[in-house]
Amino acid sequence: MNNPAEELTTIGCAIRLDQVCLEIEGKQVIHQLSLDTNVRRLGVIGRNGSGKSTLSRLLSGLIDTTSGQLEIAGFNPFKDRRAALREVGLLFQNPDHQIIFPTVLEELTFGLRQLGQDKTEAKKNVLEMLSAFGKEHWQDVHCSTLSHGQKHLVCLMSIVAMKPNLIILDEPFAGLDIPTKRQLQRYLDTFSGSLIHISHDPDDLQNYDQLLWLEAGQVAALGDSDEVMSRYLAAMHELGESDDISDLSS
Ligand SMILES: Nc1ncnc2c1ncn2[C@@H]1O[C@H](COP(=O)(O)OP(=O)(O)O)[C@@H](O)[C@H]1O
Ligand SMILES: [Mg+2]
Repeated sequence: MNNPAEELTTIGCAIRLDQVCLEIEGKQVIHQLSLDTNVRRLGVIGRNGSGKSTLSRLLSGLIDTTSGQLEIAGFNPFKDRRAALREVGLLFQNPDHQIIFPTVLEELTFGLRQLGQDKTEAKKNVLEMLSAFGKEHWQDVHCSTLSHGQKHLVCLMSIVAMKPNLIILDEPFAGLDIPTKRQLQRYLDTFSGSLIHISHDPDDLQNYDQLLWLEAGQVAALGDSDEVMSRYLAAMHELGESDDISDLSS
């Protein structure tokens, strides 16, 4: 899993958006968004409602653009669902929107069956995944009885089991206790594929190759992590000091 040669490279999955627009119920949620990057660790920051979760759904092909071109590793993830399933795993912001099966075993097995694995192979891989996270005892547990953080871990394990080349994480640490967060972080540190990580916490995005700052569905900045983060934090503090609270809502 952990190839030292790969750790040195910052080259990852190619992501190309050209003038992408997305309109939902008459509202321009993503507006003429263009970017071209292939870093292995891309952080995404931005205020509530700036379009971060929507962008993650576009990149994983769950929704289509209204106009413009979008490519992940050379294919359009909405049009080529098979390739998207193989290449991209999305961890939803809210695990309740992701989990569809009653038990942990069924939830983790589903993705592998979709990839074409037979029942025996899928079950073997799921048990290996549970064991890698020290959660063998979860296989027959009902997802509905798990905490928010535990559900998040189930969702992450089901994505990781599918071995995608790109994992998109939409605020993955929200609601996790410190040991679980550390466990997830350790896993992410060893993941040799590409990561797109949406977070509000600067600490989560340390050592990332680039940061994308979204503002009202557009790119406010894309570039060196430290530089973009300090500009973002300065802008957010300035807004927070503003007397006009309407500025803070979107
Ligand atoms: N399905 C939807 N229906 C209506 N509005 C939506 C829908 N999805 C997103 N939006 C709107 O798009 C904007 C961006 O939302 P979102 O991508 O969730 O932002 P973020 O994740 O940055 O907080 C918000 O104003 C939100 O209300
Ligand atoms: Mg969001």
